[in-house]
Amino acid sequence: MASYVAVVPKEEGEAARRRFREAGVLRLDRKIVERNGELLIPVTQEKPLGYPIESVNLDVRASRPRTYRDLVRVPEDLRPLLPRAFDVVGEVVIVRLPEALRPYEAAIGDAFLQMHRGARTVAADEGVQGSYRERALRVIAGRRETRTLHHEFGLALALDPAEVHFSPRVASERRRVAGLIRGPEVVVDAFSGVGPFALHADQAGAGRVYAVDANPRAVAFLRENVRRNRADAVIPLEGSIEDVVPQFEPADRFILDYPWDPLPYVPLSVGALKDGGVLHYYEILERAEREERIETLRASIPEDRSLEVDGVREVRGYSPTQAHFAFDLVIGPA
Ligand SMILES: C[S@@+](CC[C@H](N)C(=O)[O-])C[C@H]1O[C@@H](n2cnc3c(N)ncnc32)[C@H](O)[C@@H]1O
Repeated sequence: MASYVAVVPKEEGEAARRRFREAGVLRLDRKIVERNGELLIPVTQEKPLGYPIESVNLDVRASRPRTYRDLVRVPEDLRPLLPRAFDVVGEVVIVRLPEALRPYEAAIGDAFLQMHRGARTVAADEGVQGSYRERALRVIAGRRETRTLHHEFGLALALDPAEVHFSPRVASERRRVAGLIRGPEVVVDAFSGVGPFALHADQAGAGRVYAVDANPRAVAFLRENVRRNRADAVIPLEGSIEDVVPQFEPADRFILDYPWDPLPYVPLSVGALKDGGVLHYYEILERAEREERIETLRASIPEDRSLEVDGVREVRGYSPTQAHFAFDLVIGPA
């Protein structure tokens, strides 16, 4: 069957293909062919794209689609708006859609279900809300149920992303922190959610892990996850960290995972640590503010303590100028 092709010099082939793809005019169902040092790249339109356009017969492409975007049918002018990033939490795909794609969300949801064999539900992410930071989710395809079982480096985590905060993008950071544990340490996981930091710490050999969250639904899942993973060192506690922390024995490690507004919790976290203990401090910051933040942290700890920076890393990008940072801070005597 005839298809329009852009006739592109071979050395410009990859750049042109990428540009056509981003513009939503690349045909994925036809093969690219080579002719006398030029590439014939199948496109959806006869209008010029910076290269001569011809109509030729091309073989149908046998290769499988690589992303849901290769399967979904939306008007060509909206194709560039199809999100590249999305989360898979157990059997639930979570995707943030721009308003212009809302009339096509059922088709987008079906494309995800076809592409991701383990997915049973596709939900539109309408943002995090309140102090528990759970997501407002609207199911757009598949089962209505959002409760699921998520697997993370050998852990099985029961959770409902509509009721509790959980990000699969932080998995490597959680494992990194567990990898730092030496011997039967006392660990406080102060904003534990359903417990992934605490459960990784248990697996790494921590002696006791106090896991605290203010959201009763998160603590119910945390208790279930402690049972599922036989995490005997983890002690689940429901309540606000301000009320619960003063009751602990001095800790070797304190995980402060409230990245939207963590500074007010620094004095309490430092107070809970032994000399030589480590504070894992997370914050979403402008990249340019990173050095300044270290000075702010130093100024915010009690006068009888000191703070040394053991490392700072970007957990993930958050916006073009912001990132989710991890600060490893060693707390000592003044
Ligand atoms: C970033 S989420 C935690 C994610 C979790 N650490 C994980 O890795 O999946 C922040 C958590 O803090 C909890 N939270 C908010 N305010 C709190 C407080 N004052 N005390 C204890 N937990 C709180 C929320 O319910 C939420 O589960």
